[in-house]
Amino acid sequence: MPNPNEFPTVHIALADRSYNIAIAAGLLDSAAAWAQLPRAHAALIVTNTTVAPLYAKRLQQALAAHYPKVHTVVLPDGEGYKNWETLNLIFDALLGHGCDRHTVLFALGGGVVGDMTGFAAASYMRGVPFVQVPTTLLAQVDSSVGGKTAINHPLGKNMIGAFYQPERVVCDLETLATLPERELSAGLGEVIKYGPIADTQFLDWIESNLSALLAREPQALAHAVRRSCEIKAWVVGQDERETGLRAILNFGHTFGHAIEAGLGYGAWLHGEAVGCGMVMAAQLSQRLGGVDAAFVQRLSTLIAAAGLPVRSPVLDAADNAGRYLELMRIDKKSVGGEIRFVVLDGPGRALVRAAPDTLVRKVIDACCA
Ligand code: NAD
Ligand code: GLY
Repeated sequence: MPNPNEFPTVHIALADRSYNIAIAAGLLDSAAAWAQLPRAHAALIVTNTTVAPLYAKRLQQALAAHYPKVHTVVLPDGEGYKNWETLNLIFDALLGHGCDRHTVLFALGGGVVGDMTGFAAASYMRGVPFVQVPTTLLAQVDSSVGGKTAINHPLGKNMIGAFYQPERVVCDLETLATLPERELSAGLGEVIKYGPIADTQFLDWIESNLSALLAREPQALAHAVRRSCEIKAWVVGQDERETGLRAILNFGHTFGHAIEAGLGYGAWLHGEAVGCGMVMAAQLSQRLGGVDAAFVQRLSTLIAAAGLPVRSPVLDAADNAGRYLELMRIDKKSVGGEIRFVVLDGPGRALVRAAPDTLVRKVIDACCA
């Protein structure tokens, strides 16, 4: 594991699957960031057409000190490619290079690359080690941590996958410098999420430091990534496989996944759909008596200020609420066709519960108006 004395780390405690999340600027070129990983004849960097020209060479050089062969596979970029066909490109590369079951995979990119690489690692030769090297804010604060891996199905998001923990997460904060503004905002959606579900002090901090975050001030980004990872590590450490508590990390996601699937993957960014979904989930929470209108307004104002949409899209002109409900029933939290929502039970507290369709329809109608 990276030595916490060399650079800041957050520990995720999962017995023999425990690991550290290293968070600092310049880690791609730091020898210490890559030390003490599992030994192997080969490493495979999985990245995409956007990230490869920016960072693949530096990672290749760093890994060459540790692995006799460092191969790279470059995937097409986009949520629309998070599917079987693209996943197979990783297996093609592994088999084409004669990679054995000790090969270490490195996911260099955002959440799409991370989720697909993790799933490939979980299933290649029944499991090989992998390392997350997240380069988007969203991936650094959420998707690279906690071992959820998946691809999409046309009928539902992240429907095919596995829980499979990385050996390590290496967040080089410098990579956020090249992130497009829209992607930065999408990442802020997941940062904001941690406030209402778990930490109102963090919510206060985000509100006070939003301009610094949007301006990519290094100290602000470092704190946002670190505190987000601490909260996620605390939740996942108690409920790795989402038998209960971990579901709170899906605040806004039930509505958000419906938006993503309903509009077609990639039309809205995941973080945009989650931002808008959080406004819908907060409104549902208010109707269920968990929070007041002032808190819903506060959250909505922050989400909008982060550059995210707060007005929900119409998914079906004839029966919009019906379409949302149909899509949300496919959610992984659904039980026997009954949708479970993550709702707020007060600022900083979340729980999972069902809600009457009539109430959910009112929320959808109000949010799409
Ligand atoms: P993404 O992976 O599509 O990356 C966003 C865009 O930024 C892409 O075009 C990418 O090529 C580009 N990019 C990446 N790093 C860059 C950099 N440093 N500079 C310039 N461009 C860069 O999207 P994302 O927001 O990172 O991740 C979203 C995905 O993560 C979704 O598929 C979502 O389902 C998944 N997710 C998974 C979890 C989990 O726990 N596994 C949690 C949240 C989200
Ligand atoms: N992003 C939700 C989770 O990891 O559980």
